[in-house]
Amino acid sequence: MSAGPRIIVALDFAEVERVYALVSRLDPKRCRLKVGKELFTHAGPAMVSELCARGFDIFLDLKFHDIPNTVARACQAAAGLGVWMVNVHASGGRKMLEAARAALLDVQRPPLLVAVTVLTSLDAQDIKEIGWQGSVEENVLRLAELAAHSGLNGVVCSPREVAILRASLGADFQLVTPGIRPAGTGMNDQSRTLTPRQALDAGANYLVIGRPITAADDPLAALTAIEVEISAGSAG
Ligand code: C5P
Repeated sequence: MSAGPRIIVALDFAEVERVYALVSRLDPKRCRLKVGKELFTHAGPAMVSELCARGFDIFLDLKFHDIPNTVARACQAAAGLGVWMVNVHASGGRKMLEAARAALLDVQRPPLLVAVTVLTSLDAQDIKEIGWQGSVEENVLRLAELAAHSGLNGVVCSPREVAILRASLGADFQLVTPGIRPAGTGMNDQSRTLTPRQALDAGANYLVIGRPITAADDPLAALTAIEVEISAGSAG
């Protein structure tokens, strides 16, 4: 069971001013934050440290994929910023995953280490072209198992993969799920979405939610509405 907020707000902005305008209206007790490649490339590690200093748990979503030594050192650097979660590509292979895991063993407060399996932008034709055998789902499961056996804490997965991964990988494996749309909100460019309650019921630990909160006129009200929706459907 995961402690603390389950909602991770995706800070998909290019401008630091917009980040701080939003974040000053959010509460670390009620949400965590995700910093991805766009914002990190614009604003860098100083902004990540500042968000940590403001009390937020940060998911540094840089999807490391490189030789084992490089990824291990990048994960250590992320830990040094004080982030709560960091991710790598499972397709970097067992040696890379184990090196990342080992690099965090000596860290005082190690971040959760999670893997991306198959990017959800890839379809059956794309993975065939890359040279991967089997269906997208088979590849997702195989790579998630590789991540688990390499000692990672969990994976990022699409809502439609949550139930099967939860069934195969057990209760302690962390499932982080984007593609979430609260009931009654627009889909934007997401296709196969679940509502927050559906994703949690299927077995997700954390929900990555961007535009339904960040593009709302009142982001805090949007967050509150999602919390209400989650607890209204909760069994306990
Ligand atoms: O605005 P929205 O809620 O669609 O944002 C979702 C976030 O999750 C974005 O940061 C996006 O890059 C990320 N993401 C995703 N789908 C994936 C993996 C990551 O939407 N399969």
